[in-house]
Amino acid sequence: MSTSPTKLEPLAVHGGTPLREKLLPYGRQTLDENDIQAVVEVLKSDWLTTGPKVGEFEEAFAARVGGKFAVSFSSGTAALHGAAFAAGLGPGDEAITTPMTFCATANCVLYQRATPVFADVCEDTLNLDPREVSRKVSSRTKAVIAVDYAGHPVALDELRQIAEGAGALLIEDACHALGAEYRGRRVGGIADMTVFSFHPVKHLTTGEGGMVTTNDRKLAETLRRFRNHGISSEARQRQESGQWFYEMVLLGFNYRLTDIACALGISQLEKLDDNLAQRREIAARYNAAFKGEPGVIAPSVRPEVNPAWHLYPIRIESAKLRGDRAQIFRALRAENIGVNVHYIPVHRHPYYRDHFAFRGGEFPVAERAYEQLISLPMFHGMSDGDAEDVIGAVKKVLSYYYAG
Ligand SMILES: Cc1ncc(COP(=O)(O)O)c(C=O)c1O
Repeated sequence: MSTSPTKLEPLAVHGGTPLREKLLPYGRQTLDENDIQAVVEVLKSDWLTTGPKVGEFEEAFAARVGGKFAVSFSSGTAALHGAAFAAGLGPGDEAITTPMTFCATANCVLYQRATPVFADVCEDTLNLDPREVSRKVSSRTKAVIAVDYAGHPVALDELRQIAEGAGALLIEDACHALGAEYRGRRVGGIADMTVFSFHPVKHLTTGEGGMVTTNDRKLAETLRRFRNHGISSEARQRQESGQWFYEMVLLGFNYRLTDIACALGISQLEKLDDNLAQRREIAARYNAAFKGEPGVIAPSVRPEVNPAWHLYPIRIESAKLRGDRAQIFRALRAENIGVNVHYIPVHRHPYYRDHFAFRGGEFPVAERAYEQLISLPMFHGMSDGDAEDVIGAVKKVLSYYYAG
């Protein structure tokens, strides 16, 4: 890398020409004609919601991720709420979770009037550190809710052992990790319940949507009732069997995913393998480009996993640069690279600070990482040229800020 300022191209943030003309987002959906046709067919059919496409999508999804049962929800957040309910969380109970996540992971505990207990993350993966989880286990622990940050599976075997020892369930928030593998097994059939999201930036989309997979028939039944007001049967079952009688057996919600969305999900699922392959290619290209690049640390991958690469978060080593993360972020945005930051640690949000008296400094690994993180664009519709633009922009900006 050149350190001579005279040879450097002026950065767009300083009035130079942006590396790209148009903003490249950090993530976005890819839809094709088959997806559109699948939705149109449902729009012309008898069932717009909770019809045949729901079961079809759930079965195909369960088969793909290696779980026995799959229960669809209207969002990943609703699916997390379902999992928290099915785990039996209630007032006085605790669930141990990570601060390095989207707030929905911890919010589902609050929806059940239980208490989220945060544990710090590992330096390399930014996933829950099993040693920290062990330190937080108490007689009130009813669940461990772990996130596969960026699509890198968390230490599932270790966490499972800790959860079992505490008489708690392991809920895996795999909203980043559809298609990931852990010790040769697919994410979706390992934890007691695994939660997925189908938001447009994810590996497959239904607009909004989510899923819980489990190998436990009873948990699946509870999840199905919870997403349908707590009612023991569905309208279509009653219509087909000619019955009007139904009973509400628990307090649930309307968290149903529509047939329209499920038709899109079925069509999108067929392309999951290709999408994963594309994301892995982009990650390999980034890894090769940033290896040895001063001032930047590429995400690490443990040997026992095959990540799904929802995000590609780099870490900026400001001590080696003349600028900090905020300056580098602004400079990359000015080059029309749609960088983002994942995540502001959950306990640092005003709601959590105010309700749980967090002062900062409680989870040093997560908090230090937050100061360094920048997510680069990563989605399966990106072209090789897009990826090269990202690499070019990162190198351009870092060259400027590199102190040598
Ligand atoms: C880790 C994690 N958990 C949960 C969610 C919530 O999913 P949804 O947006 O489908 O409600 C997200 C969404 O981005 C997420 O990243």
